[in-house]
Amino acid sequence: MTDSSAVYAAIRQFIAFDDDDAARLRGLAPLFAVHGPALTDRFYTKLAAEPEQAALIAGRVEALKQTHLRWLAELFAGDYGERYFAERWRIGLAHVRVGVRPWWVEAVTSFLRSEGLALLEAHIDDPAARVAAARSLLKILDLDLMIINLAYADDRVDRLCRFTGMSRKLIERCIAQGG
Ligand code: HEM
Repeated sequence: MTDSSAVYAAIRQFIAFDDDDAARLRGLAPLFAVHGPALTDRFYTKLAAEPEQAALIAGRVEALKQTHLRWLAELFAGDYGERYFAERWRIGLAHVRVGVRPWWVEAVTSFLRSEGLALLEAHIDDPAARVAAARSLLKILDLDLMIINLAYADDRVDRLCRFTGMSRKLIERCIAQGG
C-alpha cells in the first residue's frame, strides 16, 4: 500500500488536482448534501437492475445506502491527502472481498459521472463556474476509481504470492517481463 499511496500522490500531481479543486469540491458539498440521497437511490436502482450486482447487494441495500452517503460526503469534504487515500483504499478492498468484479466499479463510476454532471447543469447557472466545477468533480471521481483499481491490482498480486508461495518482488518481476 505504501507504493500505491505514492502512485496516488503522483497521479494527483499529474492531473493537476490542486487546492482550487479541493475548494471547489467543498463548495459543492451543500448541493450534493441535498441531492445525494436521490442520487444514491438511483445508484442502487442501477446496480439492482443488473443480475450479478443485484445478487451482491440483495437484502442490504438500505445499509449500503448509508455507507454510500458517507462516501459521497467525504467526496466533497475538501481533504484529499493520506487519510482520504487510506479510507478509499479500504473501501476498494471491501469490494474485492465481496467479489465485485472490477469492471462493474468502472461501469457504475460512469453512471456517477453522468449523474454528477447533470446536477451541476441543473443547479449552476454561471457557465464558467459550471465548467470549473465539472472539471473538479471528474478529477475526484477519477481519483477514487484509480484508488479502487490500485487496491484490486494489489490484491491480485497478493493472491498470486499466496497461491504460488513466490515473493512479491518475484511476482512483480514476472509481470513486468511478461511471465
Ligand atoms: C464507484 C463505485 C462504488 C462506490 C463509490 C461504492 C461505495 C461503497 C462504500 C462506501 C461501501 C462501504 C465500504 C465499507 O465501509 O466497508 C461499499 C460497500 C459495498 N459495495 Fe460498493 N461502491 C461502488 C461500487 C459497487 C459495485 C459496482 C457493487 C456491485 C454490486 C458494489 C457493492 C457493494 C457491496 C456488496 C458492499 C458491501 C461490502 C462489505 O460487505 O464489506 N459497490 N460500497
